[in-house]
Amino acid sequence: MPGQFLTFRLQLEDPVRHEPKTVVRCYSLSDRPNPDYYRVSIKRAPPPAEQPDVPAGLSSSFFHDRVQEGARLMVKAPSGHFHLMTDEPLPIVLVCGGIGITPMLSILNTVMFSNLYTVMFCGISREVWLYYGVRNGAEHVMKEYLESLQKAHPNFHLHVCYSSPAEEDVEGVDYHHRGWIDLQLLRSTLKLVRYQFYVCGPRQMMETLVPALEEWGVDSDDIHYESFGPASLIEHENLARQVTKGETATQAITITFSKSGKSIPWDPGADSLLEFAESNGLEVGSGCRAGSCGCCQTGLAAGEVDYHQEPDADVDSGHCLLCITTPRSDLTLVA
Ligand SMILES: Cc1cc2nc3c(=O)[nH]c(=O)nc-3n(C[C@H](O)[C@H](O)[C@H](O)COP(=O)(O)OP(=O)(O)OC[C@H]3O[C@@H](n4cnc5c(N)ncnc54)[C@H](O)[C@@H]3O)c2cc1C
Ligand code: FES
Repeated sequence: MPGQFLTFRLQLEDPVRHEPKTVVRCYSLSDRPNPDYYRVSIKRAPPPAEQPDVPAGLSSSFFHDRVQEGARLMVKAPSGHFHLMTDEPLPIVLVCGGIGITPMLSILNTVMFSNLYTVMFCGISREVWLYYGVRNGAEHVMKEYLESLQKAHPNFHLHVCYSSPAEEDVEGVDYHHRGWIDLQLLRSTLKLVRYQFYVCGPRQMMETLVPALEEWGVDSDDIHYESFGPASLIEHENLARQVTKGETATQAITITFSKSGKSIPWDPGADSLLEFAESNGLEVGSGCRAGSCGCCQTGLAAGEVDYHQEPDADVDSGHCLLCITTPRSDLTLVA
């Protein structure tokens, strides 16, 4: 489905320990589904500016530096609940920041392609609005492609926002709006009709835009969103979790890991059971750390957990995803 992602299992070398390492990462399809190929678009993840000595991102560096034409990779079939909804042909608003453009390209290309046929046969074409936020021209992905699409399709409305344009970036030529994508911009450019909204971007965008859309009166069923990692979890989902954390902080919760025979008091400061298990020296599988790949699925022999977000991976009964859960009660995990 347009907007879904592939899950890669990569065998690479740990840059610190210099030993083989398996990493699992998800990458969204960035083109419309095609029987001949899948396309993904991967942004290199350099070390954080304030920690230049830590290694660059493992998977993205591997793709950029090592993967050559003809390489064979282990890939799981496309999955994920964030995808184009085809039940109602409502006009679509795609809102994305940075590399969050990838699933939007998949959705956009699908709709533009199907419009070619629906226009020809019944004179109908689905309207798409793309709001794309980046820092400046250096991060502007698929610029010429998007502009050519806009010229060719009157029903495609492109709004590019630069939050800190470089000197050579010209407003009205390279980009349309200076600043972040916000509700004000959407309200001043969209018509007053019902839309399907799709949002994928960095933390700040997700935290502000999704609740703002709901406050504006958009039905939550018409808002679809995806986060690309633990850094982009949504605040209002976390709010419920903070309350739970607050409530449980006074109660002592014990996590028992049945395979290793360890019983450890839960640390209310831990973000997830995955983080808690790792910080206590337990070897647990993980990949995306965002509820998408299913790698951290663990048997839950006793107790209850709270999910911080809707999991994208399908969770087997009697199991939980450690990366997006915290305990509600004493737990026994099969780990
Ligand atoms: C559903 C989904 C879809 C996605 N789609 C896309 C997509 O289409 N395109 C895309 O580019 N990405 C996408 N992502 C993100 C992608 O999966 C990876 O998270 C991303 O490529 C970074 O992975 P990495 O292995 O390169 O970096 P990691 O190895 O995970 O490192 C991440 C960052 O941490 C830094 N770091 C390393 N060690 C330390 C340390 N000790 N202390 C502090 N920082 C450290 C690294 O330098 C790097 O900046 C998607 C994620 C999800 C969940
Ligand atoms: S690490 Fe991917 S679902 Fe938990």
